[in-house]
Amino acid sequence: MKFFLDTANLASIKKYNQMGLVDGVTTNPSLVSKESGEFEELIVAICREVNGPVSAEVVSTEHDAIVQEAKHLSSLAPNVVVKIPMIPEGLRATKTVSTMGIPVNVTLIFSANQGLLAAKAGASFLSPFIGRLDDVGETGMDVVRDLVTIKKNYDLKAEVLVASIRHPLHVLDAAKLGAGIATMPPEVMEKMMQHPLTDIGLKKFLDDWNKAKKVKSSLTV
Ligand code: E4P
Repeated sequence: MKFFLDTANLASIKKYNQMGLVDGVTTNPSLVSKESGEFEELIVAICREVNGPVSAEVVSTEHDAIVQEAKHLSSLAPNVVVKIPMIPEGLRATKTVSTMGIPVNVTLIFSANQGLLAAKAGASFLSPFIGRLDDVGETGMDVVRDLVTIKKNYDLKAEVLVASIRHPLHVLDAAKLGAGIATMPPEVMEKMMQHPLTDIGLKKFLDDWNKAKKVKSSLTV
């Protein structure tokens, strides 16, 4: 399973990238609006930091304008993936943009049927928003399950990129279903690496070691 960070915060991306945990990044207009600086410069900096795909989202909603924006975003770095919303004009633009060889991440997918159409239109990534579905009383993970099944049934090239992840259980459930990618906020990645018993266990090991005075003098200087 690949892990993407769902953030436009360069410091966070660097932190987790140093641990070898970042296969890619997803951004969106809301995430970018939280950061200072110019949008294009931020995307370029993220693309330099991360080797994998970096999603940058268009803000146009009409075919020709989306295509223009997509071409511009794609020119910023070779690993830019253009994020296009799951609307009829977005599907038309997905077809045009993907035919040009520019990879597309279709965003704001809330049903397996939407994902199926996005794949058909040429998307490289399908982003079902599971947390937002859970928020309105639907089971977001059901869409992931259906999309993973459909991908297998038809050997779709599009990757299922589980988005709107809110907690570590979402990641675990997506992994058990065989989704290819989970994009998560840095806080979720942080929580995934924590366990109180790890901290308690480490403290006990170090306390025992120090009590027994087994620390070599060269290490205590
Ligand atoms: C995905 O690409 C989106 O940027 C993101 O996952 C949306 O998450 P949210 O529902 O927590 O805003």
